[in-house]
Amino acid sequence: MSLAPLTLEEKALLLEGVDSWHTNAVPRLGVRRLTLTDGPHGVRRVKRDAGAFGLAEAEPSTAFPTSGTLAKTWNPDLAREVGAAIGREAAALGVDVLLAPGVNIVRSPLCGRNFEYYSEDPLVSGVFGAAFVAGVQSEGVAACVKHFAANSNEDFRFVGDSIVDERALREIYLRAFERVVTEAEPASVMCAYNRLNGTFCSEHGDLLTGILRDEWGFDGVVVTDWGATNDRVAGIAAGCELDMPGGVEHNRAEIVAAVRDGRLPHTLLDRAVARVLTLADRCTAGQGGDVDLAAHAALAERVAVEGAVLLNNDGVLPLSSGAAGLVVIGEHFEKMRFQGAGSSLIRPPEIITPRQAFDRRGVEYRFAPGYRSLNAEPDDTLEAEAVAAAAGAGTVLFFCGLGDLEESEGFDRPDLSLAAGQRRLLGRLLDGGARLVLVVSAGAPVSIPRADEAAAVLLLSLPGQNGGEAAARLLFGEANPSGRLTESWPRTADDAGCAADWNRSAVARYYESIYVGYRFHDMAGTDLAWPFGHGLSYTTFAYRDLAVEVREGRVHVTVTIANTGPRDGAEVVQLYVRNNAGAVFKADKELRAFTKVAVAAGAAERVELTFPLTDLAYWDVARHGWVVENGDYEVQVAASATDIRLAAPLTVTDGVESRSPYPASVDRAYATPPQSVPAEFAALVGAPIPAAPSTRHLAMQTRLVDSRATLLGGIMYRAVVGRVRRDLDTALALPEGPERDARVKSAHFVWRMMPSMSLRVMVMSSGGVLPHRVAAGLSDLAAGHPVRGVSRLLTRARKVSR
Ligand code: BGC
Repeated sequence: MSLAPLTLEEKALLLEGVDSWHTNAVPRLGVRRLTLTDGPHGVRRVKRDAGAFGLAEAEPSTAFPTSGTLAKTWNPDLAREVGAAIGREAAALGVDVLLAPGVNIVRSPLCGRNFEYYSEDPLVSGVFGAAFVAGVQSEGVAACVKHFAANSNEDFRFVGDSIVDERALREIYLRAFERVVTEAEPASVMCAYNRLNGTFCSEHGDLLTGILRDEWGFDGVVVTDWGATNDRVAGIAAGCELDMPGGVEHNRAEIVAAVRDGRLPHTLLDRAVARVLTLADRCTAGQGGDVDLAAHAALAERVAVEGAVLLNNDGVLPLSSGAAGLVVIGEHFEKMRFQGAGSSLIRPPEIITPRQAFDRRGVEYRFAPGYRSLNAEPDDTLEAEAVAAAAGAGTVLFFCGLGDLEESEGFDRPDLSLAAGQRRLLGRLLDGGARLVLVVSAGAPVSIPRADEAAAVLLLSLPGQNGGEAAARLLFGEANPSGRLTESWPRTADDAGCAADWNRSAVARYYESIYVGYRFHDMAGTDLAWPFGHGLSYTTFAYRDLAVEVREGRVHVTVTIANTGPRDGAEVVQLYVRNNAGAVFKADKELRAFTKVAVAAGAAERVELTFPLTDLAYWDVARHGWVVENGDYEVQVAASATDIRLAAPLTVTDGVESRSPYPASVDRAYATPPQSVPAEFAALVGAPIPAAPSTRHLAMQTRLVDSRATLLGGIMYRAVVGRVRRDLDTALALPEGPERDARVKSAHFVWRMMPSMSLRVMVMSSGGVLPHRVAAGLSDLAAGHPVRGVSRLLTRARKVSR
């Protein structure tokens, strides 16, 4: 459509939301509004506008396993199917844009939102993200890939500045986005809250235009994360089109003023408006359509089965469903933990808990809850009952893991521990000599003390609404486990590659550079609980006859996988390439391809894995481009990052000669994974590293929790946090049941997240409730500028006609 009939004010309106979940319409010109809705694990269509955090009041929709669980299937076809199923449900509910998938890299095992991301590895994240987007968009619904970029923690996400060297950015943090954008052409991308190397992502021209559009060819719309705008005019100029949730008078007035006084060229405004109008044309699903919820529940179950990871097994699994003397312990058995908390929270039409699935099969067992998952502390009575029930039992199933209030969007975990109550109970069960099978629900690594003394450990992760059925099928051998970890499981968070500078301040120094996940542990020699790619089966596989060939710019690797055990099963074949020993620092090896193959008992399959030779490239900061070094590489076919089964050499001669672009001090410091190396890191980044800002202010960019040190900040903190605490108390007082669970989780998420919010994000996400001039006035007053502060508070806002 021609933009000529639109007024300047209408154009400004088209670039923002009218409420949390809709854009503005221009009815007189037939421009419709768009509906945007979370998220990655199902459609969270809020029933009425319940504000940005009205999480509980959503329409029912299928709760699929979380992204972290989906990726553990190592089966991207399932990601496409799930994307399409969510797309169909979105279309039926009148949703135009689905705010998913999240392809951020799992940098720390402590990030509260890890369950919403696929992996520590960019190939896995990119392949799953691209498949998911293709599925969603096949239904005429636009996908919105998030959170662009380097959004690796929750505690500082609103105010943080991720300092990442160019190479780590390209090879690790942008790589998955690049694959998703170039392969699946998502209609939109969501920029992250944080700053990247000093500039807010929402106004980062190099990121949003230079890289995303000019290099990768993105032709969709960039949407802010909810409240991520800092300077709206700078954002539009940088290539950020849609400001959500919008409704901020100040931003609109700034756009109009900037166009009028020439700071924002009209052409840039029109470019942004045209992109938003094109997005509407790309959302072709329309309202309605049939949804087969039973089929989607079955799909959710298939993913849960394929995504579960058998971590240990001394042969106790599978169980016989008729086994006598089975004792089941753990509240998660009857109150299944099937999803994470935050903006991806789903209200499924029904769920199947492990207990229901056991009962459907007529399994005989004695049950004791042992702990309360909403209370981390030991419960002496429940613990004593559980220990008594386990005494003299044949096999004890202990359902354990993280509770709903321990991992969530909005805050990070302090450590990897299991709740104290579960830890103590586990110790007593082991001391009592129980033959223990641990069934673990958690969206991220958790440290399980004495796990190797258990007879088996089955990780369900967060398995979605049919998780109980999936657990039963696996435990009783109706299905054979075939999931593999997509992140390394360290024993303690201190062993993570980023431990040297994790969540210390708003300035996050990514000292470890490219050494993330197994790229770090391989070279640091970490004693892991379980490595990346690990997972067992009820059968065994042998690898043989490796052949490597380079044809037309691609590496083709073929290998035979033989099922040498008693059952049909599926193996995840992982192809790593060990890097050449050139002058440029590199991880020991990197995943370059993977495939999952079903092999009948006693049979063998020949599989081929292939990847372009250019995937061996590293990002050369001198050339600002990808470069493949000449030299000797090694192709490794593996069952996990630490279980290399076969290897063969691969020599590259048509690349470039190895030459380090770094100063010698960097080469030395980064030859192996570094810890805290401020000087060398600054040389690697190529710029001075900013000091962490003083937090004892009530500035627009200070976290509420930090601004408590000031008088006004303290008042504000108590008012805001007190208000959301009351919501949590109200939810906690509701009668037991699924409604209470959802309300408690949502209210807890907001209560825990609120202290990390800044005045800026509160303004930008308040839909006008907290006007910009009031926040700026308060901040001036707190900083000792009473005249400016009072005058801001008393000034009437500039009105922009609607
Ligand atoms: C989250 C996004 C989400 C948005 C809307 C933000 O706080 O970071 O992932 O899509 O809220 O709910």
